[in-house]
Amino acid sequence: MKKLSILKLFKIKNIKKYKNKTIIIKGWIKTQRNSKIGISFIDINDGSCIENIQIIIKKNIKNYNKIIKLTSGCSLKIKGLLVKNKKKKNYEINAKYIKILGNIKNPKKYPLSPKYHSLEFLRKISHLRPRTKIFGAITRIRNNLIFNLHKYLQKKKFLLINTPIITSLDTEGHSKMFQIKYDNNKFFNKKSYLSVSGQLNLESYACSLSKVYNIGPIFRAENSNTKKHLSEFWMLEIEIAFYKLNKIIKLSKNILSYCFKKILKNNEKDIYYLINFNKFYNIEHINNIIEKKFIEINYYEIINILKKEKTFKNNNIKWGINISTEYEKFLTEKYFKCGLIIKNYPKNIKPFYMKINKDNKTVSCIDIILPNIGEIIGGSVRENRIYNLDINIKKNKLNKNKYNWYRDLRKYGTIPHSGFGLGIERIIMYITKMKNIRDVIPFPKYPNYSNF
Ligand code: 4AD
Ligand code: MG
Repeated sequence: MKKLSILKLFKIKNIKKYKNKTIIIKGWIKTQRNSKIGISFIDINDGSCIENIQIIIKKNIKNYNKIIKLTSGCSLKIKGLLVKNKKKKNYEINAKYIKILGNIKNPKKYPLSPKYHSLEFLRKISHLRPRTKIFGAITRIRNNLIFNLHKYLQKKKFLLINTPIITSLDTEGHSKMFQIKYDNNKFFNKKSYLSVSGQLNLESYACSLSKVYNIGPIFRAENSNTKKHLSEFWMLEIEIAFYKLNKIIKLSKNILSYCFKKILKNNEKDIYYLINFNKFYNIEHINNIIEKKFIEINYYEIINILKKEKTFKNNNIKWGINISTEYEKFLTEKYFKCGLIIKNYPKNIKPFYMKINKDNKTVSCIDIILPNIGEIIGGSVRENRIYNLDINIKKNKLNKNKYNWYRDLRKYGTIPHSGFGLGIERIIMYITKMKNIRDVIPFPKYPNYSNF
């Protein structure tokens, strides 16, 4: 029989393979119980999955007297025999040797006692909250989402472009940007900012390499103190040469469906743990996306539906308004009860780079909105005609010279192209039913808060 290498680090996630073998586990104590007859039961987690494994430690273990004094959070190396508990049908380890790796010096001062902590409290200890079941589960889901976005796009031969974080250009036109200051702006000799979107840079690459994307950090200085806005968040941005709106819509649905399927497969236990925690007991919301259940509808049709509804606080609904959170909720949760792909918004409420439709009133764009979340994707066909682009730049009162390099893309061999941006944290909120975006990113940044 093949001997197990003692150097191998066994992970709880796939421990079953090693039944009746001596293995080594390293991890952290979740709970501990010492029986009067001289056996200590310790639940260990190693981060590989939501489940713990129970370690059974008998009195004859050398440091038994020290072990029984350990508390939640201490770290251990355990060597022992992995057995299946016939009664409970789970696996446990009969310890042969235990090394205490890290102690909790003063357990009373350790902020994470095994009792319940509110999410607001955990946010204040963002460096310790990964130790909770909730944040372990969210972290594994987030990892799997980003991994599968890359996997899908790489399979489809998209090229990853690392767009700049520092920029002197405002992609969206009138964004609130964080300015970079060092030695009174002399460093770059030009006002420079943290990027609000890598779209324009991606366009430069799409206009040569055809299919490109990035998953990167985005910075916005909007004073939006809401449950779905962060000052620093992550976005998948895609840009594709020769694509029109219908192809962007199809791609969005396919990417979401693919990733949701993978996440459900690989993170099923994490998902159930989180949705139950958030008092949801089924995965219909996930299946809807896997099955691509969306309603595709024009902006003007949405306005007509909203006009007929009498329950809104503000009933000044007319063509040209923004679709507020209240309207989004009504449409996705009450009226259609599913995700919406809203097309062709009025040009006046969308950024300068979107392509004007033949009606000269609307732009060729989409917003995808989901129940309980709102917008998760925003995308468009890009204005590829220099004449129209210049009109848009002027109308939006932007400094034309600043956009010269972007205008070059239209002057030299311009092509039709399209793209979109997908908010990573909003997707995680949707999957997990977590209510506050501050709880689905490792170290959240929001107005008046930049700790860690
Ligand atoms: O709609 P947005 O602002 O689109 C753009 O920035 C385009 N330049 C993207 C592109 O076409 N390449 O943002 C895209 C998505 C939104 O749909 C939303 O999911 C998310 O990014 N998002 C935010 N997520 C968290 N906090 C914020 N403050 C966000 N603002 C937008
Ligand atoms: Mg948007």
